[in-house]
Amino acid sequence: MPIGKEMKKMRIVAPPGTVDILPEEVRMDRYVESVFLEKCRLFGYSEIHTPVFEYGELFTKGIGSVTDIIEKELYTFTDKGGTHLALRPEGTTSVTRAVLQHELCRSLPAKFCYKITCYRQENPEKGRLREFHQIGAECFGSGDPRADAEIISLAYESLTAMGVHNLRLNINSVGCEHCRVGYINELTRYLLPYANKGRLCPTCLKRLGKNPIRVLDCKNPDCKTIAKGAPKLIDYICPDCLEHYNGVKAQLTAMGIEYNEKPGLMRGLDYYNRTVFDFKAGSGGAIGTVCGGGRYDTLCRRIGSDKELPAVGFAIGEERVVIAMSEQSPHLAEPERPAVYVVSTDAAAAALCLLELRKRRVYAEGDVIGLSETAQLSRAVSLGARWLMFPEENGFRLKNTASGEEQRIEADNWETAVKIIGEK
Ligand code: HAM
Repeated sequence: MPIGKEMKKMRIVAPPGTVDILPEEVRMDRYVESVFLEKCRLFGYSEIHTPVFEYGELFTKGIGSVTDIIEKELYTFTDKGGTHLALRPEGTTSVTRAVLQHELCRSLPAKFCYKITCYRQENPEKGRLREFHQIGAECFGSGDPRADAEIISLAYESLTAMGVHNLRLNINSVGCEHCRVGYINELTRYLLPYANKGRLCPTCLKRLGKNPIRVLDCKNPDCKTIAKGAPKLIDYICPDCLEHYNGVKAQLTAMGIEYNEKPGLMRGLDYYNRTVFDFKAGSGGAIGTVCGGGRYDTLCRRIGSDKELPAVGFAIGEERVVIAMSEQSPHLAEPERPAVYVVSTDAAAAALCLLELRKRRVYAEGDVIGLSETAQLSRAVSLGARWLMFPEENGFRLKNTASGEEQRIEADNWETAVKIIGEK
């Protein structure tokens, strides 16, 4: 058996971009999810679960083949039957597929929410993982600005209730397929001289001919600088898209939700049209983007449906929210304190007390190692137990750890004991 350094060398750790979610983070996750699901209930969104993997072409068609997610980040594999599959990089495409497959859109609007694990082969950094979690909501069947405003309001209410402060909402309109034709011509005219001078990265050079809008998502510093000076899509949108955008803004104002208009906001997925938005928290940067969303009226058609179904949604990055919350609300990560610690070296007597308490939904701890009574008392203190219980002949004694007050309870008087424990 190897020891010391050799043993260390052999130790297998989690792969890059994946993390073990430790108990304090799990507590934060549970809190975030419970706040979100409660908000979804109030807004009428029903939870849906979809598979972790799908046919690869679902994502290629839905998200767009010339996007970072598909070109660089999608985890794909071929199963033993030769089927090409992919791990889901996000939830919208899968939920849309499920809505169409099960005809969940017979009564409209149809509203769904989810909490999912996603996979993207990105360069890992703080708040950017290869395996991460999203909580999101999707509303199908309305092209009206009220639906956009309602979904933004659900995201805003959820993030605020979770305790994420310093939220900033950015919005933009990316128009529709028709008004984009003129824009793409202008954008190509702007980018060509840079391409000819060799100032675009190889990926952007390829994108220029296929999907020039995605040049604007490039993370290469030179391409980013060039993108800053590019014509803005919002200046090219058609009157209908402009009216829609104005409608969303008016509705947000009516709801008292503040927003910044950000003409450069494009979002890196091809399925968006009209409204796009994101929420930033804290001091900004990539870690600051805690939520992204928008309208995707053509996604059903992109994935093979002959029907159009307008839709709008968002997803919140759970890890990023937990980072923001652990700075702002660290108490949520603290473990729950036991209500009672049963102190006894008589294993059978202690086990019976623990059983009776837990049956009555009291969080009770006791010794399972074989500690002395003194060591058990230290353990009770370190766990922060509020009461000590000492099994005795025909009953037990309860001691409050804060006040020192003691009470003797007779054998089968568990309801009285639970009442006392619950009161203090
Ligand atoms: P997205 O902007 O790609 O949009 O992701 C949404 C959120 O997921 C981001 O704002 C971020 O908080 C989090 N996120 C994304 N990638 C990572 C990562 N590698 N590590 C940690 N967190 C990450 C979508 O996924 C769309 N499906 C949102 C949507 C729903 N649009 C309409 N409906």
